Amino acid sequence: SWKIWVGKSLPVPSIQEIVRSDFQSIPQRHIHENKDGTIISEDLADSLEFPVIDFSFLAKGGEDEVQKLQKLHLACKDWGFFQVINHGVKEEILEKIKAAVAAFFELPFQEKKKYAMAENETEGYGQNFVVSEHQKHDWSGMIYLLTLHSQNRNFKFWPLSLPGFKEALEEYSREMQKLAEELQANFSVLMGLKRDGLKRLQGGGLKQGIRMNYYPICSRPDLVLECSPHSDGTSFTLLLQDDDVTGLQIKHNEAWVPVKPIPNSLVVNIGDATEIQSNGMYKSIEHRAIINEKKPRISIATFMFPDDEQEIGPVETMIDDQNHPKLYRNIKYVDYVREMFSRKMEGKAHTQFAKLHDK
Ligand code: OGA
Ligand code: NI
Repeated sequence: SWKIWVGKSLPVPSIQEIVRSDFQSIPQRHIHENKDGTIISEDLADSLEFPVIDFSFLAKGGEDEVQKLQKLHLACKDWGFFQVINHGVKEEILEKIKAAVAAFFELPFQEKKKYAMAENETEGYGQNFVVSEHQKHDWSGMIYLLTLHSQNRNFKFWPLSLPGFKEALEEYSREMQKLAEELQANFSVLMGLKRDGLKRLQGGGLKQGIRMNYYPICSRPDLVLECSPHSDGTSFTLLLQDDDVTGLQIKHNEAWVPVKPIPNSLVVNIGDATEIQSNGMYKSIEHRAIINEKKPRISIATFMFPDDEQEIGPVETMIDDQNHPKLYRNIKYVDYVREMFSRKMEGKAHTQFAKLHDK
């Protein structure tokens, strides 16, 4: 079927297979120098009160409306990240998708390669954001699939012969969409719009793509990164991670703060499109993931984003010429995504593309 071109990534050797092959030393292209900066210890992070949002409370409406919206407002403004509990997605659905993703990565390389990202595609098994022979690579493998709208599914990249994979992913995708729609409705209200305000501005429902990450163990976690610092080019992202391995870190007050998983919760982060629409009120925060020495880690990122053809820009209700002048230009979403995929992941550098600069 006809498809808009959004980007490509150079093919790279699979680190999972290198680790499987009894390798001798860490390949130079995986060694990140000067990566650390200030890291907040897990104990100290506990006291920072990383926001936790009770979703059952959020979705109910009613008398505490103002109070709960205030909590969400502060989470999006001061952190750009929060963990969602009581989201209503059954534990067995979370377990099923985790097991399906684990089973995929356990397949022999020859089998996984059948779903390899093709040239000029961003979907499939492989890597995104590799744009030069010389850049540093992450200690990870991934498979990225477009899941919604359903006509965007590209089944040649789906491991359909893996028993239960398709069912697990479809079920998980449906549940994430329900959650995402409720979150979007709340973000609309926070931005001074009706509940369906952002949906209307986006010309219809959110689109969805799911990126499944596998991070092998590494004996020298100090040298490598699971996932380089970046912000997500999405409206927002829902991340399901292993309950017992902390890997994700977010930039908060110039330091890296670890996000300790709450079992069965989901991590939500504001993406660039929401930062732009909120005229900078809600922050698309830089994040990265670090390696665990003892256990491989799986994470499943559900990206929610506008239609390619949609123009995004600060919504009228968030602009005030006196106090909050327009900080971003209006831009067709696909142009933004193309810019993002033409680069390596490098913090928030790609977001400059949408910024209005002082003359
Ligand atoms: C991502 C991402 C973090 C993680 O896929 O965009 O930020 O913990 N992943 O895997
Ligand atoms: Ni991310």
